[in-house]
Amino acid sequence: MTVYASSTTGPVNWERFLAERTHNMKSSAIRELLKLTQDPSVISFAGGLPAPELFPVREIEEACNYLLREEPKRALQYSTTEGHPPLREFLADTMAKYGIRHSPANILITTGSQQALDLIGKTFIDPGAPILTAAPTYLGAIQAWRAYQARFISVGLDDHGMCVDQIEDIIKKKKDTPRFIYVLPNFHNPGGTTLPEDRRRLLVQLARQHDLIIVEDDPYGALRYEGEDLTPISAMAPERTIYLGTFSKTLTPGLRIGWIVAPAEIVQRLVQAKQGADLHSSTFDQMIANDVAQRGILKVHVRKIRKIYGERRDTMLDSLAEFWPAGCSWTHPEGGLFLWARVPEAIDTQTFFKRAIEKKVAYVPGINFFPLGDGGNNAMRLNFSYSSSDVIVEGVRRLGLALKEALAE
Ligand SMILES: Cc1ncc(COP(=O)(O)O)c(C=O)c1O
Repeated sequence: MTVYASSTTGPVNWERFLAERTHNMKSSAIRELLKLTQDPSVISFAGGLPAPELFPVREIEEACNYLLREEPKRALQYSTTEGHPPLREFLADTMAKYGIRHSPANILITTGSQQALDLIGKTFIDPGAPILTAAPTYLGAIQAWRAYQARFISVGLDDHGMCVDQIEDIIKKKKDTPRFIYVLPNFHNPGGTTLPEDRRRLLVQLARQHDLIIVEDDPYGALRYEGEDLTPISAMAPERTIYLGTFSKTLTPGLRIGWIVAPAEIVQRLVQAKQGADLHSSTFDQMIANDVAQRGILKVHVRKIRKIYGERRDTMLDSLAEFWPAGCSWTHPEGGLFLWARVPEAIDTQTFFKRAIEKKVAYVPGINFFPLGDGGNNAMRLNFSYSSSDVIVEGVRRLGLALKEALAE
């Protein structure tokens, strides 16, 4: 046997073999922060978690038993990439109630909306391709598209959501066409803002004028606590919008079932992208979601969580007004799971995080939601769905105390 002098049994330098795009990948700051908040004595406003005590466990158990008894061969088998046909039909009907009139053929079931974001990246983003978003924006989208070496260009986000009026200027100045505009019209993550009807119309008008496409991410639309539903962008411009929905916030995130609604030619492309990723989303999970939705349980459940999350939102808003020092401000979300709070400029919410953890309370520092890391230094995202009202009062009180101490120094 030949033994080569250069052969080695030592450690492998894995870095040498990694694809270039991995250099853009970072693990999500939120996942890292959530590790710190595993300590049960820490009150966490950091995650985007639904309240686990409200999960419809018994109803899901019944659905599982029913499916395993009545349709085991289907539930446990491979299925089509597009998704479970009855679920696609149900979603087409539901979307029509919101004004999105597409047929089941325009719907692709995904493994959560997060997979939809990744498939969109895989399908539309070449290295260096510009993507237009608001800053701040959803961290998971930044993470997904960084992996495809996207170049982020951004407009601001004010108390009414994305500053759509800045888009035209940005496009003209940058002299390049974004692959798509990413927009979170309802109860923005992290902003908690809702894009008013006139901004939605302006966005559609600009997209048509400059021949741009829109990705409308709407995980929270069904969780409205006040005011009226607004027209989805996809209903205004079905020909140029890719709409994303999910059961994660309305039912349970553990099922990992989301969906894309888009023009048929794009659904076909995304189906090809999904085939390489996971062939299809879990058949069993799709059938559970379908069963729970078709039997009207989802509707009842959404009504229940809307009431409770709405109360928790009110508790958080009242507690902020009571316990936080002058110079702070926050958004008033009409729905969803989050609000965006600003503290006096003297406080950097990244450094302040350590002090908050000492007081056993956590949040996500604002900077993490800026694709270029160029903002949010005195802002933070607070979640109000996960903790009970008592815990919310105590957590906001502790943060208020920590803020007052920091300002006094
Ligand atoms: C704006 C936004 N898009 C997508 C997702 C991903 O959701 P899913 O659990 O469906 O993957 C989230 C989750 O928090 C979100 O806030």
